[in-house]
Amino acid sequence: TIGNSMNIFWQESPIGKLERQKLLNQKGCVVWITGLSGSGKSTLACSLSNELYARGKLSYILDGDNLRHGLNKDLGFKAEDRTENIRRVGEVAKLFADAGLICIASLISPYRKDRDACRAMLPDSNFIEASLFLNGSHLDYVFMNMPLALCEERDPKGLYKLARAGKIKGFTGIDDPYDLPLNCEIEINQKDGVCPMPSAMAGEVVTYLEDKG
Ligand code: PPS
Repeated sequence: TIGNSMNIFWQESPIGKLERQKLLNQKGCVVWITGLSGSGKSTLACSLSNELYARGKLSYILDGDNLRHGLNKDLGFKAEDRTENIRRVGEVAKLFADAGLICIASLISPYRKDRDACRAMLPDSNFIEASLFLNGSHLDYVFMNMPLALCEERDPKGLYKLARAGKIKGFTGIDDPYDLPLNCEIEINQKDGVCPMPSAMAGEVVTYLEDKG
């Protein structure tokens, strides 16, 4: 039996991750972008997807806002809903990585315990095998570390304004917490008060992925 489910078994498939990765000539993995609303997560996700496409690498973006129109449309923004949101997207990201894709998850993912749980779901295959086509999965966090004041000034959807006016309750960074990442692989910061260009941010992530093979 698996988990809490009685009489449920694991069905092996004839073609595994190794075969899929060879077919695609890439390794499946998850790049998970976390940060406040308006910090530039989606901009980085799109730019990264473009850069990978230009290199012949297949990626897929899991965007928090978009998934809330379908898979997660039953979830709101209270703590347990956000936890379930991140858990579900973690599971989906794991499937995408297993399919051999470079999965780019772009969600606020504000709670450290939920991010840690996603990381635990995707153990680092480097410890298991060191060949070119690894059979495991891995998740790397990219933290869009932009000051709240900047995100609020950008306010691309006008949501901070509504939150400040008390018209949205429990808005991340205003009256709901964002736990700072303690162990992210990449941190994107302003340099001399200027945000990096999207292509520069994406380039940093691509270099990281290339260095990891
Ligand atoms: S979470 O916290 O990870 O579950 O959120 P996520 O699924 O990424 O969805 C974030 C987008 O939802 C909009 N929105 C809110 N964000 C934060 N707090 C509250 N209360 C809220 N209500 C709606 C907002 O557009 C977020 O999009 P981004 O792209 O982050 O700006």
